[in-house]
Amino acid sequence: MVKICCIGAGYVGGPTMAVIALKCPDIEVAVVDISVSRINAWNSDQLPIYEPGLDDVVKQRRGKNLFFSTDVERHVMEADIVFVSVNTPTKTQGPGAGKAADLTYWESAARMIADVSKSDKIVVEKSTVPVKTAEAIEKILTHNSKGINFQILSNPEFLAEGTAIEDLFSPDRVLIGGRETPAGQKAIQALKEVYAHWVPEERIICSNLWSAELSKLAADAFLAQRISSVNAISALCEATGANVTEVAHAVGKDTRIGPKFLNASVGFGGSCFQKDILNLVYICECNGLPEVANYWKQVIKINDYQKSRFVNRVVSSMFNTVSGKKVAILGFAFKKDTGDTRETPAIDVCKGLLGDKARLSIYDPQVSEDQIQRDLSMKKFDWDHPIHLQPQSPTAAVKQVGVVWDAYEATKGAHGICILTEWDEFKSLDYKKIYDQMQKPAFVFDGRNVVDAEKLRQIGFIVYSIGKPLDEWLKDMPAVA
Ligand code: NAI
Repeated sequence: MVKICCIGAGYVGGPTMAVIALKCPDIEVAVVDISVSRINAWNSDQLPIYEPGLDDVVKQRRGKNLFFSTDVERHVMEADIVFVSVNTPTKTQGPGAGKAADLTYWESAARMIADVSKSDKIVVEKSTVPVKTAEAIEKILTHNSKGINFQILSNPEFLAEGTAIEDLFSPDRVLIGGRETPAGQKAIQALKEVYAHWVPEERIICSNLWSAELSKLAADAFLAQRISSVNAISALCEATGANVTEVAHAVGKDTRIGPKFLNASVGFGGSCFQKDILNLVYICECNGLPEVANYWKQVIKINDYQKSRFVNRVVSSMFNTVSGKKVAILGFAFKKDTGDTRETPAIDVCKGLLGDKARLSIYDPQVSEDQIQRDLSMKKFDWDHPIHLQPQSPTAAVKQVGVVWDAYEATKGAHGICILTEWDEFKSLDYKKIYDQMQKPAFVFDGRNVVDAEKLRQIGFIVYSIGKPLDEWLKDMPAVA
């Protein structure tokens, strides 16, 4: 029986390995992590991450050919194929701080693999890494290997949180990069055989290592660029009276452009887009390509602009101050159907409002109070360094913030509502009931264009929808600079 071990039981390691175990009953899969609490959660009824369909897959295979364990070394030693799916956050200090990928966790995983291995192994980069990481990893492994043969493959993950299981069941493509040597090609073939259990052959793409590594960074940059493009247009729509939904629809009808990923919003978030673009920017700079670096940097600048533009709109609409006013925040996760808050635009929006001394009442169906308080007290880029790996504990809770477990509670007595995640339940709230219990004038700032603005206006709300023609009220209150 082929044995797979995956180091890192996070948003990628957990779901990808659960699906491999489901689709390949002839393969034994062990997912290992240094976080005891995370592994305990994977072995319990309350999985550490929320992802539609994941519970079901885990329950079907756990204890059969899917195991979660903290015994990292034993499972690595026994495995034929070792996936490394540890976090690769942005560096917070030293050269490249704020841009380059921090490969501390990756390097320590590689050193451990070299230390404990007693047989040949295929080591698979699942984490998103800078181009040429495989070369560095190869050096660590071969210099410490005691004659063991390691083949490095790059197999970046393209799943999207919120639809991870669907994406893994039916991926657009699986990408496997390897050395162009006979041994490299043999390793590619071995990994291909794993995916071939359920992925059609024409969707399994093979390439050299560097193309595979770069493709992941490029794919994330392209996706984020579409969002920043439509968000840039949304600002112009508001200034001109055009409607971004109509513009995006017309633009997306061009088959060369396509309709997906053209929803204007308060901005993109998630653990990948910003981190991977910063990483791309850094690699361009290191390779003497400042023009290319600046081009991609602009995607992040527009995203930051969109978040601050939203905050400015909220403040200016509410008589240029939110000081002491209760503002309800509906949604904190970076997108619907996940509890993940890494780089969520809600953090910057909330911090912006707190900067003007607003009182926030936050509701998200999947995010805990602890998580929200931690996110709001953490410094930029600290978020992706797991708590258990951080030297100091999170700072004290933010006092101006309350977290509640109901949208009606959050909006009680509020002056305004900011919708920051597109949870379906926000479309069908009883907005009349909400209006009646709010201060007047009552505002809705829809950062995801989920509500029926016309209906809300009929109730009496002043409504701001991203990129849509503005209410007279909002026109009279130009956004502050
Ligand atoms: P995560 O932070 O949820 O999980 C990483 C896990 O690795 C943590 O539980 C941590 O305790 C563990 N870990 C760190 N060092 C370790 C070590 N030496 N030994 C054992 N365990 C160790 O991160 P996530 O989101 O799963 O991302 C992992 C990688 O996949 C990153 O490079 C990310 O960029 C990439 N990725 C993430 C996607 C996402 O949607 N979250 C999608 C595609 C790629």
